[in-house]
Amino acid sequence: MPFPVTIICELLGVPFEDRAEFRGWSDQVMGTVGNDTPQAALEGMTKLHAYFTALVAKRRAHPTDDLYSALVAARDNDDRLSEDELVRFGITLLVAGHETTANMLGNSVITLLERPDAWQRLLDDPAAVPGAVEELLRFVPLGSGAGFPRIATEDVQVGNAQVKEGDALLVVVSSANRDESVYPNSGELDVDREVGQHMQFGHGIHFCLGSQLARMELHVALAAVLRRMPGLRLVEPVEFRKGSLVRGPIRLRVSW
Ligand code: HEM
Repeated sequence: MPFPVTIICELLGVPFEDRAEFRGWSDQVMGTVGNDTPQAALEGMTKLHAYFTALVAKRRAHPTDDLYSALVAARDNDDRLSEDELVRFGITLLVAGHETTANMLGNSVITLLERPDAWQRLLDDPAAVPGAVEELLRFVPLGSGAGFPRIATEDVQVGNAQVKEGDALLVVVSSANRDESVYPNSGELDVDREVGQHMQFGHGIHFCLGSQLARMELHVALAAVLRRMPGLRLVEPVEFRKGSLVRGPIRLRVSW
């Protein structure tokens, strides 16, 4: 069971023992099970909606010491969320809070194992892990597509393209992570690079709400893998899933 699931369950207040069910529905929504039809995604979302509607009722009757109980109170006491927003926010936090980080961790380990010098560098100096995580966030693509559509709020020229106010666009924001004018040799992983700002957590008003939590989880988990399994190695070429929203391996065979 990926470590990010336990963390988000505990913070949000989603019972960990329900993980088999909600992970299945979440996988359907993200298309990570090879069953990536719109019907499967809709079915997964409907199941998650029913699950969180029931969880709201439980937390309302018996509040606990977690984020979801606090959100229920924000709705009931201050009227700061509608009932539907409350349910959908729970789904967003649960799904965004584990699929991304779990896959980022797997993809990061693969990227390092494919580059034994980088793996060895982190074994020699565990203090370099936080910097390496930032470079991995820059270097490793996580979204397998362009994510959510955007609507232009004004006319704008992008390269040779004229975008008109009201146009719908699919923007591959993460391509900026390979901008040569910002990151020389952008196609190379350099765990000692001074990365500065990158686009893996998005930009602007929808900048990732969980970026600091994700960073912390990645630091802790990667350091633990290096410490406990220094001789980790891939035993077969990695095959990535196709058609899912979040890029990740179909399976990962390793030995140590
Ligand atoms: C490596 C891990 C993660 C990555 C790469 C990531 C990436 C992103 C990106 C790119 C966006 C912006 C989407 C857009 O502009 O359309 C976003 C938004 C969001 N993320 Fe993350 N995320 C990660 C982990 C997390 C975690 C752990 C949580 C929850 C605790 C989380 C919760 C959210 C939420 C709620 C939003 C929507 C924010 C808004 O629309 O205002 N994310 N994330």
